[in-house]
Amino acid sequence: MKATIAVLAGDGVGPEVSTEAVRVLRTVAECHGHDFTFLDALVGGAAIDATGDPLPASTRRTVEASDAVLLGAVGGPKWSDPSATVRPEQGLLALRGLLGAFANLRPVQPHPALVGAAPIRPELLTGVDVQFVRELTGGMYFGRKSLETDGPGQEVATDHCTYSTSEIERVARVAGQLARERRRRVTSVDKANVLETSRLWRRTVTRVMRDEFPDVTLEHALVDSFAMTLLRAPASFDVVVTENLFGDILTDEAAVLAGSIGVLPSASFGERRADGRRQGIYEPIHGSAPDIAGQGSANPIGTILSAALLLRHSLNLTDEAAHVERAVGDVIADGWRTADLWSAADQSAPVHRASTTAMGAAVVDRLRRIMS
Ligand SMILES: NC(=O)c1ccc[n+]([C@@H]2O[C@H](COP(=O)([O-])OP(=O)(O)OC[C@H]3O[C@@H](n4cnc5c(N)ncnc54)[C@H](O)[C@@H]3O)[C@@H](O)[C@H]2O)c1
Repeated sequence: MKATIAVLAGDGVGPEVSTEAVRVLRTVAECHGHDFTFLDALVGGAAIDATGDPLPASTRRTVEASDAVLLGAVGGPKWSDPSATVRPEQGLLALRGLLGAFANLRPVQPHPALVGAAPIRPELLTGVDVQFVRELTGGMYFGRKSLETDGPGQEVATDHCTYSTSEIERVARVAGQLARERRRRVTSVDKANVLETSRLWRRTVTRVMRDEFPDVTLEHALVDSFAMTLLRAPASFDVVVTENLFGDILTDEAAVLAGSIGVLPSASFGERRADGRRQGIYEPIHGSAPDIAGQGSANPIGTILSAALLLRHSLNLTDEAAHVERAVGDVIADGWRTADLWSAADQSAPVHRASTTAMGAAVVDRLRRIMS
């Protein structure tokens, strides 16, 4: 297969971790006879420094000419002045808008060898395999905002939360399709006892699942009680679909289950193209980690697993994606750990203390053995 992948390494540890993910993708291409072209482009703070724009026109053109985007991370103290009009994160929002990326997937499946790294009782983590689907382009983050003065010393701030039927329908379909490939259960999270947008959300998800996914079991949960159950009984969920703001918070809560923010991937995509492919943005859930940038110690697993999601969701290369995931699982089982997992590592297992590049090399080595 021929594919073009835009690599937007970004800031901080972004270039370090995306380099390892590209090595993994090159190995997949070499072993399976695929022809992947990698196009580097600027985003975030690095793009502001070079062009004044966090998503410059040259990057937009590269992205538009690509089948998928592999992204590192953006941001850092150099660009964090709150009064600045141009900020790295604007590049991310513009990128999502450019690709119409309305669905954000975050799989959370703690590796058995890392359960000791999570601040949750190990027995609660057995069998946890949750696929979050967060709506990404609607709700309060994109609603009208205002700040008004209402007398001396009194300001009034407003953030509008808006959802339309079609915005909810399309993300509900993504959840339904994913559930069909898994355990056929969807939990829809809202606050329908209080919010009008949530009542529309609940009605719409109920209709889409009843009419289009009758083979999938749907349950509804209120966001506050769901937040508790996620820590009390995380293994009870399969696919979880929710709106933008709730999804942002709940997926960070769920990240705690995996032991380190460095090991979790994400995918963001819109509708499929006529050729069956779906352009998407694939990135680790962590940020640019400025505190460890340049030290060669960042965990590249989250970005490598994001590359696996790229293979599965944008290139339809499901076997290759599974090979990458298996290689990562094996390397963790073999005791390879970057610094974020050293202190918490299972002391009974042999632990190889790995740099970012050593961890990438271990995955590549394992992948070659799996694919040969
Ligand atoms: N999608 C993105 O690009 C994204 C997401 C979140 C934050 N950010 C930006 O990143 C910058 C730093 O934000 P933050 O410190 O709140 O979050 P962060 O995720 O960058 O870091 C939080 C903590 O996790 C550690 N960490 C993160 N990734 C790691 C990895 N791969 N391996 C080992 N340890 C890792 C960091 O060292 C830090 O201690 C900010 O400018 C923020 O705006 C960007």
